[in-house]
Order: sequence, then structure tokens, then C-alpha cells
Amino acid sequence: MATVIDGKAVAQTIRSEIADEVRLLSQKYGKVPGLAVVIVGNRKDSQSYVGMKRKACAELGIKSFDIDLPEQVSQAEVINQVHDLNANPDVHGILVQLPLPKHINEEKVLTEISIEKDVDGFHPLNIGKLAMKGRDPLFLPCTPKACIELLQRSGVSIKGKKAVVVGRSNIVGLPASLLLLKADATVTIVHSHTSQPESIIREADIVIAAAGQPMMIKGNWIKPGAAVIDVGTNAVDDPTKKSGYRLVGDVDFQEASKVAGWITPVPGGVGPMTVTMLLKNTLDGAKRDIE
Ligand code: GUN
Repeated sequence: MATVIDGKAVAQTIRSEIADEVRLLSQKYGKVPGLAVVIVGNRKDSQSYVGMKRKACAELGIKSFDIDLPEQVSQAEVINQVHDLNANPDVHGILVQLPLPKHINEEKVLTEISIEKDVDGFHPLNIGKLAMKGRDPLFLPCTPKACIELLQRSGVSIKGKKAVVVGRSNIVGLPASLLLLKADATVTIVHSHTSQPESIIREADIVIAAAGQPMMIKGNWIKPGAAVIDVGTNAVDDPTKKSGYRLVGDVDFQEASKVAGWITPVPGGVGPMTVTMLLKNTLDGAKRDIE
């Protein structure tokens, strides 16, 4: 049976380390880290993610700046807000929740965020540095960073290993593959046009699943002893639940946990760590500015 990686527990440990550092900064310099979270529109999933981010800030003593804009807001107005936050010395991190409504160009908005405050790590300059050997981005994207942190803290070595990333999104799959490459893994990306993904996944010592497909990865797709990090957060109907649904990952946990060496559960794996990495990025940005 696999070791189940308890993301909630690891996240809690890191959060208390961050809270200590926030206190120190406040005592020494009379300043606290500030994170601006910008949300446009009323998407339920985005509102729930943003709510978790803002709540976590409050718990750790990080000041959160809440910018809630209506669905119909113009692109120019969103960019104006970003410029104001760039100029605000109390704001050390700016996060624009994605996806944005269709009439707003995501790339244009993300490019306006100051790279020193780009705690999501989605600015083209930060992503570009991530893609290049020997260059260090100012911030790493939170979910990929969470995956690597969970591997490292579980004692899984990455160097020289075969890693397969399932999915190539800008938010998770692509930056996760770049991070694994930086950590000297041999990386393959499997995506919706890959034929026979199972035969490629079966070769992997490390699997990062970020396809957004409920339980697509079966137990017999996993190499015995592999480390499996499941980023999927898929709601599936479940009439036995009061809410009418439950969350499942991209991996069939029941089957895969009998084969893998390590595996993250959903929920309670990568999710709590993603928010924690955002808080860590905000703290790091504040330290660079204040110290
Ligand atoms: N939407 C889904 N995940 C993310 C994330 O990590 N950052 C932002 N800004 N939007 C998201």
C-alpha cells in the first residue's frame, strides 16, 4: 500500500512557519505582508478559491486587499486596478483570479502585474525565466510549487527520475513540467492528443496528474512504487451527500493506492498546499521589499 501524503498536515506546518515570520517582520519593521486578490464576476468555483485565499491570509496575519469587480467591468478598468496595486507600497503580492470573462484579455492583464508582485508566477517574464536553464523566476506558480514541495517533503528524489505530467495548462501542467525539468527529471507531457497515454504513464517514477478528468488514471496505469501527485479537483454527482456531489481527483485513488509508493488524496492533498505556497510567495515578496 502507498504512503498517503497528508497535504493538510504539511500545509499546516508550513503555515505556522509563515505566521512566525510574519510576526517577526511586524516586530522588526512594523510592517506586514499584503496580498491583493482581484476577482472579476461571480463564478462559484472562483469565489470559493478566492474566499479560501483571503481567509488563509487573515489566519496568518497577512493583510488582504479585496478587489471585487463586476462581470461587465472593462479590461481598461481591470488594468487600472492592477496599476494602483502595483503602486501601493502595502501590497507585496497581486493575484488576478482566472479565468477572466471572455471580453478581457488574460495575457494583457497578467503582463501589467509588476514582476516583483507576481505571486502567481504567471507574468510572461517569470514563466520565461522558469523555462530557461540557469535563470531564476522571482516567483514560482503555486500549484506546481506545491507538487514539488510535497514530493521533497515526502523524501521522493526527482533528479534523474522519469516524470510524466498529465495535462498542459498554463496554470498547472506546463509550469509543473518546467519545474520538474529544473529539478533534473526526464519529463514527458501527456495531453488530450497523446495516443495511448497509459503506456507512457506506466513508465513514470513520478506522475503529476492535472488533466481535470475525474478518475481517468487507473490503478494498472501506475508503475509499482511510483509517486503520484493528483492535482485534479473534480465534482461528481453523489446523491448520498447533502451537497449532492463529492470531489474526486484525476486518479482512481482506491486502485492506485494499492500500487503506488506515495499518493496524494483528493481532497486533502495538493489543495491546501496550493494556498500555502501563495502565502509563502507573498511573504517572500514582502521580505524582498522590506528587509
Ligand atoms: N484559477 C485556478 N487556479 C488558479 C491559480 O492558481 N491562480 C489564479 N490566479 N487563478 C487560478
